[in-house]
Amino acid sequence: MAVKQQMMYEGKAKKVFLTDDPKLVIVDYKDDATAFNGEKKGQIVGKGALNNRIASIFFRLLESKGIPTHYVETLSEREMLVKKVQIVPIELVVRNIAAGSLAKRIGWEEGTILPKVVIEFYYKDDELGDPLINRSHIDVLNLATPEQIADMEEMARQINIHLKAFLADKNLLLVDFKLEFGVDADGNLLLADEISPDTCRFWDADTKEKLDKDRFRRDLGSVEQAYEEIFRRLGGVTQ
Ligand code: C5P
Repeated sequence: MAVKQQMMYEGKAKKVFLTDDPKLVIVDYKDDATAFNGEKKGQIVGKGALNNRIASIFFRLLESKGIPTHYVETLSEREMLVKKVQIVPIELVVRNIAAGSLAKRIGWEEGTILPKVVIEFYYKDDELGDPLINRSHIDVLNLATPEQIADMEEMARQINIHLKAFLADKNLLLVDFKLEFGVDADGNLLLADEISPDTCRFWDADTKEKLDKDRFRRDLGSVEQAYEEIFRRLGGVTQ
């Protein structure tokens, strides 16, 4: 059993604690919510516990499909034990349906099914506002090797296939989602961060109701209820 030690990092939605095992850290999911690069701030009551449980379900699913992730085990309501990684400062966004910034960028109506999966790279840098970047930018900034980019892109495509099928079974559309990867002490590239309604767009397949952080970003109300609904559809039990 890894013993929790001092906090090494606090992000917008999570805290990370060292443990007595140098290869493992504990992620503590917070209720804090931010949007628009931290300009909009709030709290979603119960979000930390729900995202911890939702992300655990997704990580276990992906591990069972052979995708290497940082997930080790779920420790408590808000705590997850994960492998310590050096995060690659690139956010990969995978899109199946036009929404959000893509709908704006290419002028397609939100909800348009994309004829092909779109994969985008963003530079993970708060000061710059996480800008969209291409392979030349990644190369000149030395953010990842061409092999790592190819591996991340291939894993992202596989993850999309597995998540889409799993969610379709729960009458949910996977509109788009963001992934982060990290390199562990042994040099393995692992899926890291989280997969949750904070980082994905989930729509009800029939009504197209938004069941994700867009309810917070766009002031649509019933934010907590949307996260609870996702957890319930994934098989979780709420009081
Ligand atoms: O805003 P945009 O349309 O580019 O977001 C695409 C997807 O990536 C959404 O599912 C959103 O929740 C996620 N995302 C994220 N963190 C960011 C930016 C986007 O989780 N910093």
